[in-house]
Formats: sequence, structure tokens, C-alpha cells
Amino acid sequence: MKKIIFTAVALAVVLLACKTTKTPTAATPPPAPLDCSTTAYTYEKDIRPIMEQNCTSCHNENMKAGYNFYDIASVKKAAGNGYLLGTIKHQVGYDQMPPNGWPLDLPTINKIECWINTGMK
Ligand code: HEC
Repeated sequence: MKKIIFTAVALAVVLLACKTTKTPTAATPPPAPLDCSTTAYTYEKDIRPIMEQNCTSCHNENMKAGYNFYDIASVKKAAGNGYLLGTIKHQVGYDQMPPNGWPLDLPTINKIECWINTGMK
């Protein structure tokens, strides 16, 4: 009999635990919108080094996938048609870039997005 009671209590605890974990927690606040007002990013200072460190090993004079990221024209083209952010943010419908490494870290992605949002100077 003791065994049955023990089993029943154990079962109740497990069920309760399951219920607790399934209960949605308080809604997480939406991420704050990107603030691009604090720093002015430029191609020469900020973007070119990112591209040369992460992208030009493949996208160079060979024009892989139509882009030479040594060339600002290619960067602007990818920025303008949405592929630059789509690929580095791993958005649905885009190839993930860089393809076989870690994704760029968020501050780097934000830098690129701010550069695009503030006119690609
Ligand atoms: C290891 C090689 C490699 C690296 C590094 C690389 N790419 Fe790519 N990228 C490719 C290949 C290959 C393709 C062609 C599409 C495919 O077959 O996946 C491609 C395609 C693309 C495309 C076009 C996607 C499409 O759907 O048309 C964009 C934009 C792009 N890459 C951006 C980048 C950016 C930005 C970086 C750096 C953050 C980067 N790539 C780094 C190999 C690379």
C-alpha cells in the first residue's frame, strides 16, 4: 500500500511539473528596435573589414553567385536587393552566409544593417 501511495505522489509531482513547464510564461517583450543613431558607420571603416574577414574568401573576382565583395558596388547590390541581410541573418528563403561557419555575431549584423539604413556611405 505504501508503494502505491508513493507511486501516486510521484506521478502527481511529475504531472504537475509537466503542467508547470507547459504553462506559457509571461510574454517576452519584443526586441527593441535597432538604434542606429549613436554611431555613424562607413564602408571603409566598418563594412569593408567585415566583408574581407568573412566573405571575400569566396565572393571575390570570381564573382561567386554574382558578387565580388571586395567591390562596394557588389555590397550595395546585395544590400539593395535584400540578399545581404537575408543571408547573414539566416532568414527563410535565403542561403545562409557564411555557408559553413558560425553566423556573424549580432553586433556585426547590426552594424551592417545600420550602415544600410543610414544610406551606405
Ligand atoms: C565558403 C565560401 C563562402 C563564403 C565565405 C561566403 N559565401 Fe556567400 N555564397 C557562397 C556560394 C557557393 C553561394 C552560391 C549559393 C549556394 O550555392 O549556396 C553564395 C551565395 C551568396 C549570396 C547569394 C544568395 C542567393 O540566394 O542568391 C549572397 C548574397 C552571399 N552569398 C553573401 C555572402 C556574404 C555576405 C558572406 C559573408 C558574410 C558570404 N556570402 C560568405 C559561398 C560563400
